[in-house]
Amino acid sequence: MLRVVVLVSGGGTNLQAIIDAVAAGTISNVELVGVISNNKTVKSLERAKVAGIPAVSVSPKDYENRAVFNEAFLQKVDEFQPDLIVLAGFLVAIPEAMVCKYSNRIINIHPSLIPSFCGVGYYGLKVHEKALERGVKVTGATVHFVTEGMDEGPIIAQKAVAVLEDDTAESLQLRVMEQAEWHLLPQAIDDIANGRIAVVDGSVKRIHQ
Ligand code: GRF
Repeated sequence: MLRVVVLVSGGGTNLQAIIDAVAAGTISNVELVGVISNNKTVKSLERAKVAGIPAVSVSPKDYENRAVFNEAFLQKVDEFQPDLIVLAGFLVAIPEAMVCKYSNRIINIHPSLIPSFCGVGYYGLKVHEKALERGVKVTGATVHFVTEGMDEGPIIAQKAVAVLEDDTAESLQLRVMEQAEWHLLPQAIDDIANGRIAVVDGSVKRIHQ
């Protein structure tokens, strides 16, 4: 069983999709061993509790500087002894030491078709605002491994979603979640847990079993 820790900042609908997929058996070979939020009041912690998953919070605000926070953050992650770390709407930068220690074992969901609308400043609703401003007709979501550069790691999966004439950032965000994120992220976790993908020379390869 792959020990999976999920990191969240917001409402946790992606976390819920993962919890539901594990319960339904569409993600197999996985044990959800912990949820970490950088926000104490967040709904995600409640979702974890309801599912019986240990949940903790760790926020940069509670530490004197980023270096001290980074150490405490890594320690919290280490305590769960994860095989895979899933960033499901997690808005805190992953410390370099964590990226190194868990190389090819951290994945992220981003609500656009990378390399469009990604990188510094592209998070949450802003991604969709920028997509609407640019007038793209198709957007989507991407699951990728996490490397040092923001949103630059090897791409695992992508799904396109149509942009509609009367979309607002909120309506587009919801459609991208419903049609792409809530399916792509559980699928990627299941693929990793069942040995269907591997990183070879910096790219993700499908292993045909
Ligand atoms: C998702 O759109 C995710 O891709 C983005 O933030 C949102 C988080 O939503 N980075 P939720 O907390 O999973 O509901």
